[in-house]
Amino acid sequence: ADTGADTGADTGADTGAGVEFVLDPATLDVHADCERLRELGPLVRVEMEGVRAWAATRHATLAAVLAHPDLSRDIAYWDPAGRAAVRDGTAVRRITFDTSMLNAEGEEHRRLRGPMARVFNARRVEELRPWVARLAAERVDHLATLPPGPVDLREEFAYPIPRDVITELMGIPPAMRARVHELTDVAAGVGDTPVDVTEARKVLYGMVAEIIEGLRRTPGPGLISALVQEGELTGKELLDTVELVFIAGHVTTVNLLTNGARALLREPAQLALALGGELAWSAVVEETMRWDSPIAHFPMRYAVRDLEIEGVRVRKGEAVVACFASAGRDPERYGARACRFDAVAEQPGHLSFGHGRHFCLGAPLARLEGEVALAALFEAFPDMRLAGPDAGTRPLGSVLGNSTRSLPVLLGE
Ligand code: HEM
Repeated sequence: ADTGADTGADTGADTGAGVEFVLDPATLDVHADCERLRELGPLVRVEMEGVRAWAATRHATLAAVLAHPDLSRDIAYWDPAGRAAVRDGTAVRRITFDTSMLNAEGEEHRRLRGPMARVFNARRVEELRPWVARLAAERVDHLATLPPGPVDLREEFAYPIPRDVITELMGIPPAMRARVHELTDVAAGVGDTPVDVTEARKVLYGMVAEIIEGLRRTPGPGLISALVQEGELTGKELLDTVELVFIAGHVTTVNLLTNGARALLREPAQLALALGGELAWSAVVEETMRWDSPIAHFPMRYAVRDLEIEGVRVRKGEAVVACFASAGRDPERYGARACRFDAVAEQPGHLSFGHGRHFCLGAPLARLEGEVALAALFEAFPDMRLAGPDAGTRPLGSVLGNSTRSLPVLLGE
């Protein structure tokens, strides 16, 4: 909600300026909020789950913020008063106190990212294409067995494909997969049931620790075993890395598949071009990433010193949030069609996988999953349609993710 406060009004209590906009998971409407944020300015004072920060709302500003050498993801640079406002059990807390590569910089970042980067490089990921296509085909077969009537595509299709891909790549024992995933959803703040996030994380950590212990004794296939054998990460770093990859590698991709399918169901002419081979599925994926970024707002970077960005003074110790969904519809970057889904037109690149040194490690994998899964789905069910005018409109209810809780469709004629 817009608070109407002036930029720069000093509240004294935390890190400075007054709040102009509150990002509240209970009431937020991602794209309407983003439009308002862009209007308010390139850097807007927001409150997010109780925490105050600058929100980078436009493409150029966000690109500058993500690559800025003096905006660090290292929480040590955050003003203690700002940090003290982080509430227990919130998604912001999970991300800000994570000790994986996400919140490391410099040599430490290279040490934590290196082992993972070796596994997720574009060439190795491309080798996974036939396997991902098989998983998608199995899901399509599953859809065909469901009784007639509305089917929730998010639940039955978008959710299980990235789950199966990431658990298999990580090497989670099959018997633990379903439970680990329920818990990561809760920890990521996207579960449908109101469960205590802190409690869920404890259980999750216990399970992952058990898996790691087992792999120390008996190495197995998959990334966790490789990380354990390399021995470069401490126990806590391993746990945080595994949790990060589950959340980063699953929920975001579920949103991508859901948002891409919804966009095509609303744009039958573009769907026809994709099915006819005149529009590449990769272009559909990129346009979905831009127009309906799977991540809405992402915490947090901290000013290492006093800075000026787009004429706005950011003081040492203040935090900056990245508004990916907002930058994707910035008219300064995308012109008159910024708010229209148009996978056909040539488009300038987007920032929805990040930019600079923390650029998404899983981008090649997410892109591959998006292309393969959307193609398999629409080729099998070319007559699929939304189950009603309100289908797929209930927001996820998270400040981080941008998608809908369900996507009810009718599969055939
Ligand atoms: C980082 C988005 C899929 C693993 C990031 C960042 C973004 C992002 C925006 C940068 C965060 C920042 O700079 O603050 C997405 C989206 C995805 C996706 C939208 C799906 C559509 C994946 C997948 C994996 C993954 C499939 C793993 C297999 C990571 C990791 C980082 C990261 C490990 C941290 C990189 C670092 O800090 O150096 N992602 N991601 N992501 N992503 Fe993804």
